[in-house]
Amino acid sequence: MKNQLVASVLNADLGRLGEVCTILEGAGLNAIQWDVMDGHFVPNLTVGAGVIAACRPATGLPFEAHLMIDAPEPYLAEYVEAGCETIIVHAETCTHLHRTLDLIHDLGAKAGLALNPSTPLDACVHVMDLLDLLLVMTVNPGFGGQSYIETMESKIAAARNLIEGSGREVSLEVDGGVSPATISQPAAAGADRFVVGSALYKQGDPARVVDELKLSLGYSSNPPRAE
Ligand code: DX5
Repeated sequence: MKNQLVASVLNADLGRLGEVCTILEGAGLNAIQWDVMDGHFVPNLTVGAGVIAACRPATGLPFEAHLMIDAPEPYLAEYVEAGCETIIVHAETCTHLHRTLDLIHDLGAKAGLALNPSTPLDACVHVMDLLDLLLVMTVNPGFGGQSYIETMESKIAAARNLIEGSGREVSLEVDGGVSPATISQPAAAGADRFVVGSALYKQGDPARVVDELKLSLGYSSNPPRAE
């Protein structure tokens, strides 16, 4: 589906995450992304499946788990059980990536693959048949509030071509530094799903930022709320 807006809660009020999830649904977001970090693959430590499960009742929005953890295979099932419909793993953390993506499907979830800025698109060529989502990182993973890396746009465009050539319905997601000021750039390059974190919380009104994001994507002055 075109132009999906996904809220990262990495930089949200971590003391009110359940309430934040309810607010994000009302603000018109299409999904919520949980940035799971192990302090090893990335230099930060964040939430686990228990926190996600605790927030699951707070919203009807789909959850996706962005696993920025080394060797994620042993943990996949608990994120599905916590209520994530999509599990995103990093190509850089999976020795047997084809098997890992297969396992995500066996668990009944959609499979996403994330590529760090320096990781070539070649990493996904032989697993395109297993992907429901391809995430091109537009920052180096580990923190919210970083600057969007414009040089990723050629990779986004190449990813769009790869997806078109696969003949499959694969979401092309970008994550990092996305805001009303930048979102039109990855969109023009071919992205159709946008993770937005810190930009959502800066003004204290996520609904207003959602409208600004939609205006930047070319919607009318009264953009439609999430379907
Ligand atoms: C980085 C995280 C962030 C987060 C969004 O590891 O994945 O990209 O989701 O952060 P912002 O939108 O604040 O750059």
